[in-house]
Amino acid sequence: MTPEELIEQARAMLPRAYAPYSGFPVGAALECADGTVYTGCNVENAAYGSSLCAERTALVKAVSEGHRHFIRLAVIGNTEDFCTPCGACRQMLYEFAPDLTVYMANRRGEYRTASLGELLPQGFGPDALGSEARSST
Ligand code: THU
Repeated sequence: MTPEELIEQARAMLPRAYAPYSGFPVGAALECADGTVYTGCNVENAAYGSSLCAERTALVKAVSEGHRHFIRLAVIGNTEDFCTPCGACRQMLYEFAPDLTVYMANRRGEYRTASLGELLPQGFGPDALGSEARSST
């Protein structure tokens, strides 16, 4: 699949975004190692802090369906600027895919590419907890 095709799947989610508070729809498409793609949109809430970003929507859809290996993510907003993942999404993605490739697109379908390692340098992941911490739970 080309980057443009993955971005197109993300773009197709923009009309499904539930963003009455921000007016800022976002679409995402997350590609699993086996080629499966899970899409997502942002889902806001009257209790603003309970809102969920498009990237995390796609991620929890994928993980809840049994996928844990991810290769690429496309994220797009209906803006001239390239839509970049927020800090919380970078952290959630890092748990499963520290080497993820991320395409950040604008409404024209133009995009920038970065690795998750570039977006979240020196990220905190499962390895940081160490075997000692894990065995004590
Ligand atoms: N948002 C996303 O869904 N993903 C991003 O990468 C940036 C921000 C959402 C959160 C909120 O619903 C709206 O965009 C404005 O911040």
